[in-house]
Amino acid sequence: MAAEIKKIKNNFQKDLENAKNSGSLKKLKIKYLGRKSKISELFSNIPNLAKQERGYWGKELNILKNQISAAIEARLAEKNQQEERMDLTYPARLPDKGSSHILSSVTSDICLIFKELGFHIISGDEVEDEWHNFSALNIPLEHPSRDAFDTFYLDLSKKNQKSGDWLLRSHTSPSQIRMMQKLTPPLAVVSPGRVYRPDVVDATHSFMFYQIEGFAVGENLSFADLKGVLLHFAKQFFSQKVQLRFRPHFFPFTEPSAEVDVSCVICGGNQAEGEGRCSVCKGKGWLEILGCGMIHPNVLEACGIDSNKYQGFAFGMGVDRIVMQKYQINDIRLFYENDLNFLKQFPI
Ligand code: DAH
Repeated sequence: MAAEIKKIKNNFQKDLENAKNSGSLKKLKIKYLGRKSKISELFSNIPNLAKQERGYWGKELNILKNQISAAIEARLAEKNQQEERMDLTYPARLPDKGSSHILSSVTSDICLIFKELGFHIISGDEVEDEWHNFSALNIPLEHPSRDAFDTFYLDLSKKNQKSGDWLLRSHTSPSQIRMMQKLTPPLAVVSPGRVYRPDVVDATHSFMFYQIEGFAVGENLSFADLKGVLLHFAKQFFSQKVQLRFRPHFFPFTEPSAEVDVSCVICGGNQAEGEGRCSVCKGKGWLEILGCGMIHPNVLEACGIDSNKYQGFAFGMGVDRIVMQKYQINDIRLFYENDLNFLKQFPI
């Protein structure tokens, strides 16, 4: 009997080590504790033993049975826990999805406001020529923005004499020219995209930034139409409460021209003076948001549009600056550093 018990113990130990999952542990239970197990066979042999030995081996067999049962239960509990941890039906962890960059999402918010007014959204080319970027926009040859310090010229052979050198566009205004050449009035277009200027990079300057150009050409268009469109945009984008201020200005491609300020989105112009003055508008009460005007007749004519029959208005805004004002960001470089801690702060 002693040898049998030892053999059962050894076999069980080996079987236990090999039992990989709860299924095989359950099989062990049947093998060692079931009705047809070796142990129950030994139990049924007890009456055949010498009378004085029966009690002793009965006890020994019971101990063995309890030990085996406890070992299986313990291992089963362990396995169940592990198998629970590997629940394959549990929903997978979603990978980080990413989202629109704040400049992209504000650009599309702005374009959408104009789209609802009937403007088409088109993207122009980032590589332009001198004629589209300057000449056709009535920018004279001696204008400082044509200087190599203010524009990135590209080392490519000229298309023809008229188009001049290739360059990275310094503003989105050449998309006015491209579209006016292509479409017949009435037309209304917004054109967002990157522009490039060899500025020294600091908190408010970047060699690349974003603009949105808008323009419309038709019969009987006036400055009043321009004002109405821009006021609608400002109310939709900033808040219904904002006011606009048009300051006379000069742009070669518009006449008359204006720079437009929006009443400060933070203090509403109420903390303009004295102590505790607003840090966003620096106490001025106004924030400059864009340049605009009535398209110069020379520009219309350069695109083959009869300036006696048609008028147009145009405007151009810097997206970076508007986002900086709206979210009180004090350094333009943050937009381009790809720091997720910064980018994740914006609502998607
Ligand atoms: N192109 C100008 C710039 O980059 C912005 C601008 C001003 C665009 C007046 C216009 C406009 O269409 O009418 O500074």
